[in-house]
Formats: sequence, C-alpha cells, structure tokens
Amino acid sequence: MKAICVTADRTLEVRDIPTPEEPPPGHVLVDMDASTITHGDKFFLTRPLPGAAAFASGGNDVYGSNGGGTVVAIGAGVPEDYAGRQVAIYKTLTRSQDTIGVWCGRAQVPYANCLILPDSVHGRDYCGSFANILTVYAFLSEAAAAGHKAVIVTAGSSATGRIAVSLTRRRNVEAIFLVRSTASRDDLIRHGAKHVVVTANEGFESDLGALAEELGATAVFDGVGGGLLSRIVPVLPMNATVSIYGFLGGPTPISFPTMLVMGKNLTLRRFSNLETATVRDPQSLAAARKDIEGLIDDPLFRTRIGKEFSFEQIDDAMAYEATPGARALLIPSL
Ligand SMILES: NC(=O)c1ccc[n+]([C@@H]2O[C@H](COP(=O)([O-])OP(=O)(O)OC[C@H]3O[C@@H](n4cnc5c(N)ncnc54)[C@H](OP(=O)(O)O)[C@@H]3O)[C@@H](O)[C@H]2O)c1
Repeated sequence: MKAICVTADRTLEVRDIPTPEEPPPGHVLVDMDASTITHGDKFFLTRPLPGAAAFASGGNDVYGSNGGGTVVAIGAGVPEDYAGRQVAIYKTLTRSQDTIGVWCGRAQVPYANCLILPDSVHGRDYCGSFANILTVYAFLSEAAAAGHKAVIVTAGSSATGRIAVSLTRRRNVEAIFLVRSTASRDDLIRHGAKHVVVTANEGFESDLGALAEELGATAVFDGVGGGLLSRIVPVLPMNATVSIYGFLGGPTPISFPTMLVMGKNLTLRRFSNLETATVRDPQSLAAARKDIEGLIDDPLFRTRIGKEFSFEQIDDAMAYEATPGARALLIPSL
C-alpha cells in the first residue's frame, strides 16, 4: 500500500509498504478514508518532541496523527462493536509498537484509539475530531475536579473552542470565549455560546476581567499564547490557572510582571490531554469514549474541511493554508 513516511532528516516521502492483513491482539485494521493535517503534524515534523523516538512504532515510519475510515478486521480481545464500523482515529492516544498509520491505505492501531461513529454520519466529517474533542473533554473534567467554577477559552472559534462551546453547555459550566472578530462572535452565539468577548475591541481586557470575576472563571484554556496571554493575565481573578495547550499565536513571547503571579496566586502550566486522568486511566478513557460517541453528531464537533489532496500531493497539502480553521485532507483513494 501507499504510505506517507517520515525520513531520517524529517522530510516526508510516499513509499510502498506491506499492507497489514492480520491485526495483533487489541488492534484493528482500518481502511482509511481520509486523514487531516493538523498544526501538530506540521510543527512536530521539524521539531520532534524530546523523547519522541522512544515512542516510535515498530518497523515503519508512517506519519500522521488523525484520520478516519472503516474497520475491516479486529484482533483478539477487541470488542465486537468495532467490527465493520466507521471510526475516527487518534493515533498517539495509546502507544503500541504495532501501530501503522495513519497516512496510509490501511492503518493498524489499538482499538482504544478509535472512536466509533454512528452509521448516520458521514465519517469524513469527523476524521480529525477525536483528539480535539477528547482534549476539551479531559480539560473540563480536570478543571471541575480542581474546583474551578467557570472557564475562559482563548481560541474561541478554533476547532477546540467550538467543541468547548458544546461541552460546556452540556455540562452546565459557565464559559467565556475570546474571538478576534464580531463575525466569529456572532457565529459562536448562534451555536449557543453565552459569553463571547471580541479581543479586537477597545478595552476588551476590562470587560473580560469583570465577567471573569462575576462568573468565577479561574480555569483558562489557552490555545493562543503570546500577545493575547500577556493581555489577559493582568485581569484574571485570584487563584486562576492558565492551562497552555496550543500556540496559535506563534512564537510571540509572553510578558507580564511576576508580582501578578505572587499577588493573585496564578498558575501557568502546560496541558496535554495525554497527561490527564481521563486519558491515563483506561476505565476513564473507555467512559469518555462512550460519552463522546453518544454526542458525536453535534455539528460543532465536525472537522472543517478545506481541500482534499492525494498522497503524491503531500508537499502542496503541507503548505496549504485554508481560511483559518479548515484542514487539508489526505485521501488515499485519490
Ligand atoms: N495539547 C493538546 O492536547 C492539544 C490537542 C489539540 C490541539 N492542540 C493545539 O491547540 C491549538 C488549537 O487547535 P485547533 O485545531 O483547535 O485550532 P484551529 O481550529 O485550527 O484554530 C484556528 C482558529 O483559531 C482562531 N484563532 C484565534 N487566535 C488565533 C491566532 N492568533 N492565529 C490563528 N488563529 C487564531 C481563528 O479564528 P478567528 O479567525 O475566527 O479568530 C481560527 O479560525 C493548536 O495549537 C493545536 O496544535 C493541542
């Protein structure tokens, strides 16, 4: 089968590799329909995380993290529910030396890394959704466990921000969403967000500060960083925790007086879904998967699709910049 593989000098190339035919125990084979190219796929290609080599899957270098397709075989110990179903894959959710995928014709992954999609949805619409939904789900669970009453979401109209609109509403958690334009604000409000603040507006910081104080919004879910974080840290309530999970704002440094950290007892931390109790405990993960499977047809969970590319067009696909938020898709059958 054709696969997009990562070379020793961290470039991508299309190779012919053996098609997996017999899934090992706990694994499924998935005939891939489509895969997304995420921010992480681009970023980590040239800047692999320290220690990433220790997690490499055995015997192949197939690249890619999110995709979807149809289960064509299940290994020993895999629940029958997976047989023949369309699934969304989050490749690195649990690690296995036997993983092959996901930018290839047929992926082999642990079944725990697959979200079963109902037959009523078009699977391609959710091919990049599982990791993002789980990220927000795990964050909200962690924030609730830490006693935070309300949250601030800095990348309000991102995929993760839109998922947060849905999940906070379902959990009855008050949330403040930051967006860059009134068009994005109107869109989020149409989708059920109650508190949306436009960061381009004059004096947005004081509006945010007052609202955060009123709601007790002490858990910040930050996917932007840089300049925006520098602007909001001074108006956060006492005892706020900023969980940094993304960097849409690029490499702009953050800047604020450290007396704020002392005076307001602020915490800044990195957030990775893989480090949460939701993901680390197999039973919690199974429960989260079941929960998410029951909600998946929510339009806010859909992957926004920009343009479709064949494997041979991988360079164009990696360079593709759609309207913000839309993804390049890699389609094995093209
Ligand atoms: N740590 C984890 O576990 C984890 C998991 C998933 C994703 N992530 C990371 O989370 C971040 C968000 O991912 P995503 O898939 O939700 O993003 P996305 O859907 O691609 O977000 C793009 C949207 O974010 C908004 N945005 C706000 N500030 C922005 C800025 N400074 N530059 C560009 N866009 C900005 C834009 O909306 P407007 O144009 O309407 O403002 C844009 O439509 C990424 O950095 C990703 O790598 C981390």
